[in-house]
Amino acid sequence: MTKDIKAVYQGAFNSLNNIKVSPLSRAYLFADSIYEVIPFQNKKFIYAQEHLERLIYSSSQVKIKIDIERVKNEIFHLLEESDIQNGYIYYQVSRGIDITRSHIYDQNISPETFGYLMPLDLDFKKQDLTVSICADIRWSRCDIKTTSLLGNVIQMNSVSEEGCDEIIMHRDGLLTEGGASNIFFVKEEKIFTPQLSSNILPGITRAILIEIIKENNLPFEEGEFYIDDLKEASSIWFTSSTKGIAAVKRIIDLDIELNPHDALLKKCQSLYKEKVSS
Ligand code: PDD
Repeated sequence: MTKDIKAVYQGAFNSLNNIKVSPLSRAYLFADSIYEVIPFQNKKFIYAQEHLERLIYSSSQVKIKIDIERVKNEIFHLLEESDIQNGYIYYQVSRGIDITRSHIYDQNISPETFGYLMPLDLDFKKQDLTVSICADIRWSRCDIKTTSLLGNVIQMNSVSEEGCDEIIMHRDGLLTEGGASNIFFVKEEKIFTPQLSSNILPGITRAILIEIIKENNLPFEEGEFYIDDLKEASSIWFTSSTKGIAAVKRIIDLDIELNPHDALLKKCQSLYKEKVSS
């Protein structure tokens, strides 16, 4: 099944099927790795440069040395060689393969790189999400895009049995983000989103949408917001590279009416679509 998926491991292009990874990879043993998910539409990357810059930021924070020109060549080559029109490239850089399993890594190991390309319908037609509110149990450096995602995994799976597709996370009531996306909401005809901090991933889709909101002079505020603010929201949505702008249909723990046809939501969705397909 994975034989048709194009991938690149340690600089060598291959099908996903043929890639062999050492169990001593620090990605495998410690989740000592960072990653990006870069979407493409009509065989054109959506904001690739911004994703690469965030990878550079993540690498600087965890002190994994990356060769960004090589990363760039590899992702562009994967895309060029593929006949898939819409999808994303997952690209991961781990600290490397370390013979001794020790928290303190060997300074002489070199980074281990892995990428693959997956098809995905980026038309985002039907995505009304059912969500739950969860405590943000993650670490305090969520601004780094690391593969250490256990907090997100635990919380998202704890509510998936209740039919939830996403979660809204908070720290003592203060909104942070979704399990795999950033959050926006509309209250009294104004758009709000939590301001960036070390508890939030600086989403590229979030940044694109803020750029759009500002270009179009839509009412907007970034700041510190609480679960209580959501009780007065007329619309809530998530942003991510693989979801675009996805509206929340229902929050299972709050008895509020959300309007799937909210004018500001619809405007943001159509402006976003226009922007990423231009
Ligand atoms: N997730 N916050 C978290 C915790 C995320 O995992 C993501 C993306 C985002 C949105 O970031 P962006 O707009 O740059 O995709 C916010 C990706 C898609 C993933 O891990 O699959």
